[in-house]
Amino acid sequence: MCGIVGYVGKKNSSDIVLDGLKTLEYRGYDSWGIAVNDNGKLDVFKKVGEINIKKVPLPKTSSAIGHTRWATHGGVNEINAHPHFSTRRDFVLAQNGIVENYQDLKGKLIMKGYTFDTETDTEVIVRLIEEKRKSNETLKDSVRDAFNELEGRNTVIVLDSSKEDHIIAVRNGSPLVLGIGKDGIFLASDALAFAKYTKDVVFLDNYDLVEINGNEFKIYDAKSGIRKEYKVTKLNNKIKGISKGKYSHFMIKEIVEQKDTVLKAAEYSEDDLKAIIEAVRNANRVYITGAGTAGFASGQIAYYLRNIAKVDALDVRSYDFETFLPILTKNDLVIAVSQSGETADTIEILEFAKEKGCKIGCIVNVEGSTIHRMSDYKYLIHAGPEICVASTKVFTSQCVFGYLLAKSMVNEYKEAKSYIQDLSDGLSDYFNEKSFKHIKKLAKKIKDNEHFFILGKGQNSYISLEGALKVKEISYKHFEGFSAGELKHGVIALVEDDTPVFSIISDDKDSKDIISATEEVKARGAFTVGVGDSKFKNESCFKYFLPTASNKELSGLANVVAFQLLSYFLADSLGNSIDKPRNLAKSVTVK
Ligand code: AGP
Repeated sequence: MCGIVGYVGKKNSSDIVLDGLKTLEYRGYDSWGIAVNDNGKLDVFKKVGEINIKKVPLPKTSSAIGHTRWATHGGVNEINAHPHFSTRRDFVLAQNGIVENYQDLKGKLIMKGYTFDTETDTEVIVRLIEEKRKSNETLKDSVRDAFNELEGRNTVIVLDSSKEDHIIAVRNGSPLVLGIGKDGIFLASDALAFAKYTKDVVFLDNYDLVEINGNEFKIYDAKSGIRKEYKVTKLNNKIKGISKGKYSHFMIKEIVEQKDTVLKAAEYSEDDLKAIIEAVRNANRVYITGAGTAGFASGQIAYYLRNIAKVDALDVRSYDFETFLPILTKNDLVIAVSQSGETADTIEILEFAKEKGCKIGCIVNVEGSTIHRMSDYKYLIHAGPEICVASTKVFTSQCVFGYLLAKSMVNEYKEAKSYIQDLSDGLSDYFNEKSFKHIKKLAKKIKDNEHFFILGKGQNSYISLEGALKVKEISYKHFEGFSAGELKHGVIALVEDDTPVFSIISDDKDSKDIISATEEVKARGAFTVGVGDSKFKNESCFKYFLPTASNKELSGLANVVAFQLLSYFLADSLGNSIDKPRNLAKSVTVK
């Protein structure tokens, strides 16, 4: 939700910041802005919409900050875009987060005579710093004082004009990483923004305040103001730059990458899994939690743990977990599933669970992310950067890890590895022009319909939910996934002539129920589409069939890929923005 970048160093600062912001656009793409310090004069450039220029019309300088926005308070326009000037134009500030007490603070500042140019909560921080300057000698202490009065999860970055190359930033909730390179010092919401310049990073903790002065930096505890030690971590990923390669969108690139990423997620030895297996075994109950796609991955993982390892595993959406807190005990294990490792709803639940004394595990994609760092049992799925806002490869990787865990608990590690290899091989064969053409043909046929239903059961139950979410996110069509069992209890009322109904079918015990449910909707005129094992392609209940790389226990994961592709081709035929769909942001770091 909003991306922040800062740089002080030998290179042209606005180029570095612009480049970083482009990498962070997945965090928000309503509007963006960059500020530079040009010999004591701050210059700001702001724009609404995506970043589509190669250079900003700003002077060449050695320090700059930038921001890409996902609006929370105030409409999408240049005035509300960050960074925001102080009244005297002696500093500029950008923020990621929500100031929960902004109305209260704003009211008090107005009483003191401050005026506001924007509708943002951010400007309240700016004015509050101005107020704090009256009683503080340094800008750093003024920022610190103001920051300590903010409620909510906020991260801010400030560029000062009174000193050369002077940046102050404070983190709480929303991520901030410091990079130490030979050509300068970097700050960003995600290390990806500067990964091509340096791999030496400091993952800042909540309430860390960083002050960069030229080529030096110091870290303080924002609450006490006392200087802190820090740890430099070497990023062990191989990220240099991010590109779509031969593909027209990141989404299709990431979908195709799944043939490899499902294997990477399972690159854990039996020994590596021992700690989490032990924790799962000793837990009274295992809660698996996440939001959105990660929430559906949690459901699939809990399904594997219950049905393969016979573990008392329950998936709970992180934003609804509060209703389970009364029964959560310190003997329960909470496993968080997240791509970014920064989702506010999920972090909040982990904080509650920690307070209760529970152990925390995580299945995440981003090393050093908040959830990764706060977990006792840390498992990265190594899917590589996922840029498209709609998650694809990360979903299958998280599920594969959960499957490997469940199988390892019943001494079937080797079998799991071989099924995962089969899935990878199946996907390699599946990604070809013939399959794509078949899906494109269907996309063309249904693109004028508005309402769609997806039926699943057993291993395909969560797949129906994730499949529906995927298509909704990019095509903006109303897709609803549900368990086939639910059909007769109400949903069937919505089926009329030509309503597209997708039935996910695997070669398992649930196939009969899926066929019966499909017959029922067909009898009411539905345009029935089977998605799954080609063994069923001639079943008379289906009017169209999408065969998938269906594969025994991992059939659900092969099936979800068909919906990812349908989503992609449908959105493409509708001319929608694919990698950055409307209203969404990849990382939801606010509540
Ligand atoms: C997925 O397509 C969405 N972008 C969204 O549902 C996402 O999965 C959710 O916001 C959770 O994010 P996380 O995996 O980074 O925690």
